[in-house]
Amino acid sequence: MDFKKELLNSLTKQIKEQITLEVPPNLALGDFALPTFKLSKKPPELQKSLKFPKFIKKTEIKGPYLNFFIKKQVLVETTIKEVLKQKEKYGYNNKGKNKVITIDMSSPNIAKPFGIGHLRSTIIGNSIANISKKLGYKVIKINYLGDWGTQFGKLIAGYKYFGNKELLKKDSIKHLLEIYVKVNQDPVLEEEGRQWFKKLEEGNKEALKLWKQFKDLSIKEFNKIYKILNVEFDVISGESLYNKKMNAIVKELKEKNLLEESEGALVVNLEKYNLGVSLIQKTDGTSLYATRDIALAIDRYKNYKPINMIYEVGAEQKLHFKQFFKILELMGNQWAKDCTHVDHGLYLDQDGKKFATRKGKTVFMIDILNETIELAKKTIQEKNPNLKNKDEAARKIAIGAIFYGDLKNTRTHDLVFDINKFLEFEGNTGPYLQYTYARASSILRKSNKISSKTRIREVNEKELALIKTISQFPNTIENAYTQLAPHIIANYTFQLAQNFNEFYHACPILNQIKEIKESRLLIVRATTQTLANALSLLGIEVLEEM
Ligand code: ARG
Repeated sequence: MDFKKELLNSLTKQIKEQITLEVPPNLALGDFALPTFKLSKKPPELQKSLKFPKFIKKTEIKGPYLNFFIKKQVLVETTIKEVLKQKEKYGYNNKGKNKVITIDMSSPNIAKPFGIGHLRSTIIGNSIANISKKLGYKVIKINYLGDWGTQFGKLIAGYKYFGNKELLKKDSIKHLLEIYVKVNQDPVLEEEGRQWFKKLEEGNKEALKLWKQFKDLSIKEFNKIYKILNVEFDVISGESLYNKKMNAIVKELKEKNLLEESEGALVVNLEKYNLGVSLIQKTDGTSLYATRDIALAIDRYKNYKPINMIYEVGAEQKLHFKQFFKILELMGNQWAKDCTHVDHGLYLDQDGKKFATRKGKTVFMIDILNETIELAKKTIQEKNPNLKNKDEAARKIAIGAIFYGDLKNTRTHDLVFDINKFLEFEGNTGPYLQYTYARASSILRKSNKISSKTRIREVNEKELALIKTISQFPNTIENAYTQLAPHIIANYTFQLAQNFNEFYHACPILNQIKEIKESRLLIVRATTQTLANALSLLGIEVLEEM
């Protein structure tokens, strides 16, 4: 039961003013505090006149606050009972029923290495999708590939000079990257590339054939990454689907008096809104990223009618999103207000610079992932050489480490991408959380069945702190959803693991009289369930043993 919400509901009905409940800085002050600064009645008056729900033991006045104490045993028993009854559904609800959310996420560019920013988008987008799903929303995860633009004209031009079929098959992305670099060093080839892009937009067969080959091979490479990450999509889309809609967009913008000519190109002037100028059609008549995004959004709205159209893309594209959301609005689309750019900061190197190159060389995502898995395997080899399925365990630990290393941070912040730190088994890391889960699971494995009549005994301070944290899970998910902030779940999970480890050290379980032992085992069971549920929201897989 969400005690906070229950209490808040009951108080709101009686007070009939805007109220909030806070959690006091320490347990001695009670479980919840009602700040009364803005209320018309003062604490003594409130205390006298209000009726409190049954689970409230007493209230106390502390300055401008009215503090509430929950009946310990009610909190403990209802919480544990709820978790054990709802199991993998604990903490979730159905508020979003019949509402659709689209999440544009990952969205790498074909024929190019899967970027580190695309990894962030994949991890954060995936978590936001998980969180929304557990609140009942119908979530559509869309991978919108960067598969259109001048660069593909350049690649075609370059491939005709430097292309090699075998290399393309064997190491597609590396080979295409080499070609791309060469073209960009040669102004003549660059010009040829622009012409090839024009041909591509006009539907030239030869151009399309090569482009399609580059695309299929790139997707094959990307799929290897998604498989390791264990992330799936509902829709694979791409910019190429929307270039054909440029003419319609241009026509509509013209009719609505939004288009201006500028040196032969067509633009929407957004200076009035402090958003500069957005280029819609180039002088040679080809389309742009922004043009395609406008067409895409209109199409997406038509198809899905989402209550929130989310784009999980790096903060460096803030202006782009502001511009095209504004254009959608100016075109008269009321739903433009439901478009959200969920942005994220950069991954940095240990030296604080943007993480991109290693001694001047491009880093390939697949290599980073495989290196991390190797490191995880080494640790397993040291700590638990008899572990079964070491490869799969190493993958889960490595990916858990990377996901958590990212998600524990506020997404808009930059963070240092440090695999060795992420992989530590102690401290605020993914492996620490997985390890806590595995340890709790092993306690359960070692004990006999608990009789169904078992009740939670009078709890001590550590047990209470742990159960309280467990009881806050439903509310935490709602907060994470409202703020589109997976770090709220990550921080919660860490808190839960810490509460558990403190409980585990202070409260022996197995060598106890039966009543205490079973009562504590119930607490362990509820903890493992909540931990698993929380980690799954982050996209982190648990291990029964590690
Ligand atoms: N492919 C783009 C990039 O790598 C990201 C696309 C994001 N989605 C969108 N609808 N613009 O920068």
